[in-house]
Amino acid sequence: MGSHKQIKKIVLAYSGGLDTSVIVKWLIDKYSCEVIAYCGDVGQGADLSPLEERAKKTGASKLLIEDLREDFAQEYLLPALQLHALYEGQYDLATALNRPLIAKRLVDFALSEGADAIAHGCTGKGNDQVRFEATINALAPQLTILAPVREWELTSRESEIAYAEKHNIPIEISHEKIYSIDKCLWGISIECGPLEDPYLEPPRNTYITVKHLDETPDTPEYLELDFEKGVPQRINGKAYSLVDLIVELNKVGGNHGVGRIDMIENRLVGIKSREVYETPAGSILIKAHRDLESLVLDREMLHYKENLTNKFSELVYYGLWFSTLRESIVAFNDVAQQYVTGTVRLKLFKGQATVVGRKSKNSLYLDELSTYAEHDKFDQSSSKGFIDLWTLPLKVAGQVRKK
Ligand code: ARG
Repeated sequence: MGSHKQIKKIVLAYSGGLDTSVIVKWLIDKYSCEVIAYCGDVGQGADLSPLEERAKKTGASKLLIEDLREDFAQEYLLPALQLHALYEGQYDLATALNRPLIAKRLVDFALSEGADAIAHGCTGKGNDQVRFEATINALAPQLTILAPVREWELTSRESEIAYAEKHNIPIEISHEKIYSIDKCLWGISIECGPLEDPYLEPPRNTYITVKHLDETPDTPEYLELDFEKGVPQRINGKAYSLVDLIVELNKVGGNHGVGRIDMIENRLVGIKSREVYETPAGSILIKAHRDLESLVLDREMLHYKENLTNKFSELVYYGLWFSTLRESIVAFNDVAQQYVTGTVRLKLFKGQATVVGRKSKNSLYLDELSTYAEHDKFDQSSSKGFIDLWTLPLKVAGQVRKK
């Protein structure tokens, strides 16, 4: 489609890794045009400052590095936390949540630079290509999308390295890259290499921020998390910004081995893949928040919201962040969060984060109704009439069918 159009300026999603380094040169050769690199910091935890020199040495006209952590936490992680978003019940969607934000900023940057194309380094087998392109198509459908890895002749790591050496592209090949690792504030996605055997126990070198259980402390650690209107505010009484709170929980949880996930996942393109995740903060926060909601939201609201969890998680995984349905679910959630204020107490021990207590000024748990002790105010006599009417349809059907 776009191949007939003349491309004059390309914005590239750049990480400084082997793939995107080679892509800069490959794009310049193929389109004889300017390539501008963009790198968004979503909490990779790596020093991004050497990237500028590297990008320029590779041929990019410039590199824009942007700190997206605050936006990422407020606009993407917070609703995902409050909706308890987990793909297939386990993966907290760390990678899936940051792609639409990076793609949105790529679009903003491409438009302000007057570029006519955006390029990314995703493979044709993964979900990330869909997430990038869905976002670009939603926000700036006029832009051409280029995915060199899907079409180029460099089909192995070795051929990419050879290409880089031939063209004097600075790359780091000091350590053997065994796994594909994607890191952000909300967790780490680890795949490929030995993990491709689904029966193989994840090797120790897949443990990055979470301790192996035989290295975690032998005594539990208690955490008190304060939420205000659904937003986590304090750990053990100490206030944190949302970004810092997530960083801190990743550290504390990881130390106790919390948040390791090993799963077989259904990718959007139809294949199954074996994925290992490290998501201490996501695991702890979702568990605590869900527990607090069970105290402050009524039954019908809770059950209805639970139905939306699955839909929201799918939309995020499928790359449909910029959809009306996703936006509407977040709007629904915003109303619910008005009541989610209170404190949750958790115990971290040997890979588990267990909720051991919760309290709230909005608690719907009324002792005088729930108790079995002397001060019980629940009128047990009204249950008879309630059950008579509630079960009337069953009773009628039972009578009629018996005849
Ligand atoms: N399977 C996960 C997802 O689709 C993780 C993808 C990791 N991406 C990567 N480039 N290593 O969200």
